[in-house]
Amino acid sequence: MAPVLEVHDLHKSYPWGEDRLHILRGLDLIVERGARIGILGPSGSGKSTLLHLLAGLDLPDRGSVTVLQRDLLGMPEEARILFRRQHYGFVFQFHHLMPDLTALENVMLPLLLLGIAEGEARERSAELLKELGLGERLHHLPGVLSGGEQQRVALARAVIHQPTLVLADEPTGNLDRRNSLHLMEYLVALNETHGTTLLLVTHNPELQRFMHHNFRLEDGRLTPWEPSHA
Ligand SMILES: Nc1ncnc2c1ncn2[C@@H]1O[C@H](COP(=O)(O)OP(=O)(O)OP(=O)(O)O)[C@@H](O)[C@H]1O
Ligand SMILES: [Mg+2]
Repeated sequence: MAPVLEVHDLHKSYPWGEDRLHILRGLDLIVERGARIGILGPSGSGKSTLLHLLAGLDLPDRGSVTVLQRDLLGMPEEARILFRRQHYGFVFQFHHLMPDLTALENVMLPLLLLGIAEGEARERSAELLKELGLGERLHHLPGVLSGGEQQRVALARAVIHQPTLVLADEPTGNLDRRNSLHLMEYLVALNETHGTTLLLVTHNPELQRFMHHNFRLEDGRLTPWEPSHA
């Protein structure tokens, strides 16, 4: 079976005064269907930059991103938006929940955008939020939830439509140890039951043990990094 994701020779730089800051420098990556891949790197190494490029939320200087055998960067913008809605779940580093929608409404949104009826969307979303321990928080706005609660709502929103590929940016960043483990166990269970492919970036080496393969993002490229090296 073809890989879910193939990245070739990805380069990304940002303007820096007169010069440019080169963040990704010829990065390659192949992710097989059903894999759990961890990418570790210190703050500023380019982890969020990489995930944004892999979702087509930003464009590289050069290189290719192939998802489910489609050239993500070659698609017209509209097609890319629809493709992303259908196949991706994205857990943002700073969750980006809609501030005027309740927790439940935030989770329902991806389903509604895919044309699923409101009643079913409501039911599925409430069930998932309960499973994530947020049964008492369905009708709260994100602003009154704790950081960890917001992060769990963001996770629910990312996976509610059973995407092929989940990209998670520091998903346990606001959680205590117990909740971090719980969230990781949930992601692993999702991967094992639905075959959801998972790509997670973090600076926390403790998360490596939940992954099949780990890489280190260093000097703009990935190198294999097994837990025994940690
Ligand atoms: N839009 C931008 N314009 C200019 N520089 C940027 C931009 N986005 C990111 N950078 C720079 O690129 C580098 C990588 O940023 P990125 O957010 O990808 O790092 P990260 O590995 O996710 O870090 P963290 O662990 O702190 O989240 C940083 O030095 C950052 O300042
Ligand atoms: Mg980041």
